[in-house]
Amino acid sequence: MARVLVIGGAGYIGSHVVKALLQSGHRVCVFDNLSTGQKINLFDMADFEEGDILDYTRLSEVMSQGFDAVVHLAAKKAVGESMENPNKYSLNNIQGSLNILMTMADNNVKNIVFSSSAAVYGMPEYLPVDEKHPVKPINYYGFTKLEIEKFMDWYDTLKGIKYVALRYFNAVGYDADGDIKGKEKNPQNLLPIIMETATGVRAEMSVFGSDYDTRDGTCIRDYIHVSDLATAHVLAIEKLIAGMPSAVLNLGTGEGTSVKEMIEAAERVIGTKINVKYADRRPGDPAVLIASSDKARELLGWEPKYTNIDDIIQTTWNLER
Ligand code: WQD
Repeated sequence: MARVLVIGGAGYIGSHVVKALLQSGHRVCVFDNLSTGQKINLFDMADFEEGDILDYTRLSEVMSQGFDAVVHLAAKKAVGESMENPNKYSLNNIQGSLNILMTMADNNVKNIVFSSSAAVYGMPEYLPVDEKHPVKPINYYGFTKLEIEKFMDWYDTLKGIKYVALRYFNAVGYDADGDIKGKEKNPQNLLPIIMETATGVRAEMSVFGSDYDTRDGTCIRDYIHVSDLATAHVLAIEKLIAGMPSAVLNLGTGEGTSVKEMIEAAERVIGTKINVKYADRRPGDPAVLIASSDKARELLGWEPKYTNIDDIIQTTWNLER
């Protein structure tokens, strides 16, 4: 049993990580400022400390309780916004993460699992993308994630803080038991937008580009179920505590699904037509992005359980009923 501080544990991915940790018998404390995280996502079995990672005193106070590991998922994650308002990302993502590393060093907390992103790679030069792929982010959000990975590497060298950076591909789905109910507000990603269109929150949605060099002309992505992501965090913590050296790991399924295929699958699951219009390409979108997660499979013994896109979409649709 490990004592784990989950920073950002009231958010979409964080709440799934908390559930997975509790199910594996670990003790959990959530630290969250509830800016995008929601109280409805908290679990009774986990402690909750409200606070902001930019409040160094408050963060130090909580860190001084003593933890075997930290999971850090407290970040801004809207790619478009990061280009328009980089200061927000410098502050929340960079400064906030540095505060976490500094308070960990001060309080002798020795392990961290960090929520990184496929955005560190930029435009793929080959597929599937493995961890040896060059890192050249094309947006400020991706740059912040890459810099934090580098800071963690220095804190490993200088302070012996071991880390696992998990580079998520496209996170989708919800807890299959329905234990996590907080829907993201103002969602920016494909599947929540499909859901909003199906439920009439939006009159129609756009498919960004239909002339890509792919099997149906629309972009292909590697959609990974959030509960599978969550399992990888638990394994990473357990391996770090058992002495595994620091590592950077991709998390994806290795399977690609096109935008059209996602919409068709949602239509099958929901049983209605989605009102779609075909629009121009969105700047910065690669045609295909697929992960090689062989390293995570090897080092963590991790295996994604969700392989069928209809099943994944069903777990999101359950929230609407
Ligand atoms: C998926 C596909 C769109 C909306 C982003 C970030 C990445 C990571 C996850 C994390 C693309 C298409 C979308 C719509 C559409 N960030 N699309 N109509 O861009 O692959 O990845 O989120 O924190 O860093 O870049 O995800 O869900 O925005 O798009 O056609 O209304 O759906 O063009 O091909 P993306 P997404």
